[in-house]
Amino acid sequence: MKMKILIADKFPEQYVQKLIDHDLEVIYQPKLGENDLIEAAKEVDILVVRSTKVNEATINNSKQLNLIIRAGAGVNNINIAAANRKGIYVSNCPGKNSIAVAELAIGLMIALDRRIPDNVIDFRNGVWNKAEYSKAEGLYGKTLAIVGYGNIGKEVATRALALGLNVYVKDISRIEGYGIKDFSEFDQTLPKADIISIHLPATPETKGLFDDKLFSYMKNGALLINTSRHEVINEESLIKAVKEKNIRVALDVFKGEPEGKDGEVSSQLRELKNVYVTHHIGASTQQAQNAVAEEAIKIILDFIHSGVIAHWVNRAKVTDSHFQLVVKHYDKPGVLASIMDVLRQGDINIEEVENIIFDGGLAATCTMKLKIAATDEMLSAIKNNPNVLSVSHVAI
Ligand code: 3PG
Repeated sequence: MKMKILIADKFPEQYVQKLIDHDLEVIYQPKLGENDLIEAAKEVDILVVRSTKVNEATINNSKQLNLIIRAGAGVNNINIAAANRKGIYVSNCPGKNSIAVAELAIGLMIALDRRIPDNVIDFRNGVWNKAEYSKAEGLYGKTLAIVGYGNIGKEVATRALALGLNVYVKDISRIEGYGIKDFSEFDQTLPKADIISIHLPATPETKGLFDDKLFSYMKNGALLINTSRHEVINEESLIKAVKEKNIRVALDVFKGEPEGKDGEVSSQLRELKNVYVTHHIGASTQQAQNAVAEEAIKIILDFIHSGVIAHWVNRAKVTDSHFQLVVKHYDKPGVLASIMDVLRQGDINIEEVENIIFDGGLAATCTMKLKIAATDEMLSAIKNNPNVLSVSHVAI
């Protein structure tokens, strides 16, 4: 039976064809919305989405869903807790659209400084205003604070350095890169920053990070760019800072972003002249979409042919294992089962297990991570198996 793949968002058609050429059944329905997925994903093995929400009902209603691929970076549109409960893999395509997002962030910096959108709007309305639009600051030598230094933050830093910006980065876990300075506290760096560019994922830790306090550290007239997730900014705090501190803002993401690809939009931000909003297009260059599609196909083919889950995001980072049992054994039917039976009788849960075969296929080594220690009696019972070559048991 052919494996069934539903692609529920826009995906370059030549890559849809590539999957079909691999003898897979591909359903390409780029216009599906969150609620359509509940039925549409019911009978598929693999679901590929971009920003379309994969909610708990879709996951619970699915009969054979095994892998959800986010054709992009952020996985906050997928209910991962629900996927965990059903043992459904979730993967993403990290780094593949970073350059596109970085290019937009740099474009928005220049757009804010030169007020390019306002220039264009006035021109379209038959207004000439060289006098007003000649009042730009220029970016060279200005201080840029990049908040979030993952794949995208790094690409922004490279481009910003080329523009002659003085680059600071803030990352929760890592600081690296030539010519980039660390700052550990927002209260010390935000007051120095002429431009702030946010590149954070939406997580419980980053939700509402940019609140009244952080805006209070910013310079009057600073430029703020957010091409990451709207959740990291408290919208009321942002509006207050725009009105009271003349903060000028460019956003590719905002609260209440429509689910569909076209239609009407409503947001209180539309009233603010100092706020530019683009249509969540950060990742939407052909180059980026091809790179993402290429990666998504690679994930699918690896999964089908070798069972390996590339960029598997919902694999447990820590398990409840405290002991490691390594058993070398003859690679014969029933040997593993008999070892595991000893553990079962002792009511020991195996958290993780890997069995690897030596060249020639005669011997194998099985590594088991155990929740609690195996007793001496259990270890003797395993050792006494004539098909077992050696046993090691250590605390980890
Ligand atoms: C991402 O997380 O990769 C970006 O937000 C892109 O979203 P999109 O695939 O809906 O354009």
